[in-house]
Amino acid sequence: MKILITGATGLIGQELTNQLLQENHIVHYLTTTPFKSHRRQNYFGFNWNPKTGKIDENCIQGVDVIVHLAGASIAEKWTPYYKNELHDSRIQSADLLFQLLSKTPNQVKHFISASGTAIYPDSDSALYDEEAIASDDSFLGDLVQKWEASADQFKSLHIKVTKMRTGIVFSNKKGALREMIKPIKMFVGTGFGSGKQLQSWIHIKDIARMYSFVIQNQVEGVVNAVAPIPVSNQELTSIIAKRLHRPLFLPNLPRSFMKMVLGEMHILLFNNKNVVPKKVVNLGFKFDYPTAEIALSHLIK
Ligand SMILES: NC(=O)c1ccc[n+]([C@@H]2O[C@H](COP(=O)([O-])OP(=O)(O)OC[C@H]3O[C@@H](n4cnc5c(N)ncnc54)[C@H](OP(=O)(O)O)[C@@H]3O)[C@@H](O)[C@H]2O)c1
Repeated sequence: MKILITGATGLIGQELTNQLLQENHIVHYLTTTPFKSHRRQNYFGFNWNPKTGKIDENCIQGVDVIVHLAGASIAEKWTPYYKNELHDSRIQSADLLFQLLSKTPNQVKHFISASGTAIYPDSDSALYDEEAIASDDSFLGDLVQKWEASADQFKSLHIKVTKMRTGIVFSNKKGALREMIKPIKMFVGTGFGSGKQLQSWIHIKDIARMYSFVIQNQVEGVVNAVAPIPVSNQELTSIIAKRLHRPLFLPNLPRSFMKMVLGEMHILLFNNKNVVPKKVVNLGFKFDYPTAEIALSHLIK
């Protein structure tokens, strides 16, 4: 198959590209960063700029599936300007692809968009599978709903649509896990709040395999892209400390303090939700890293 990826140069995109190339697919990718645009066997970069509406229309030639991963990082301070950036980088870019497909003859059959578990409201008791009512009213919850709506517009072109509601991706190259490791390594690691809040996560290799599974099996609709067993904040901090042979002696940092330091973004540390990957498990997907203990023993040596 020929697969067009946006955001292919990022954390998930790089792993997914390797996975798809190993499976002998052809990868086209769109990048906003011209120097990242390369061409080699089965791997072809094209330039775009969703802000100005520019896109190299050749990117779509012969493409069967689009994977839309592009988006500004949520790990930057959420100023009003940056909130627009978070929105536009995901939604203007999806709109630009939609316009291209609407006016250009093509053979795209499947549009797969990244999404986030932030769409589910916090809960001590709910178990969120893909049929759960999802409408968290935080900034991030609202953003994810708009992001998913921008993916759903592709249905009007008779294209299958999938939304990958992704938990925190664990990788040793980039992302949240690396940020969690840093203070623990420096002997100042600690949990947050009660530490009981459940965090949904997934190993980088499993998410790449899950995208590939969704492509192969033409899985449609919402997919919870999380490991089967969430981890509490306290448990996660303890596993990392154990892997790094570091003690944890500081008290957990309270929510009010983290709100002062991070502003609205502090919710990322205190979110509490139990999300389950029911759809892919029922379809036969097998996790290589089902528990945080197994994932972290692979990632932290
Ligand atoms: N990693 C996670 O824990 C996680 C969890 C939940 C959801 N997700 C979502 O999954 C997607 C991929 O995540 P990731 O961790 O791989 O992200 P990432 O490493 O930050 O990479 C995202 C890519 O998007 C492109 N991009 C960045 N800013 C952009 C902008 N303003 N306009 C258009 N494109 C822009 C960049 O590619 P170019 O420079 O090549 O254009 C970048 O490499 C994101 O949408 C993210 O929100 C990730």
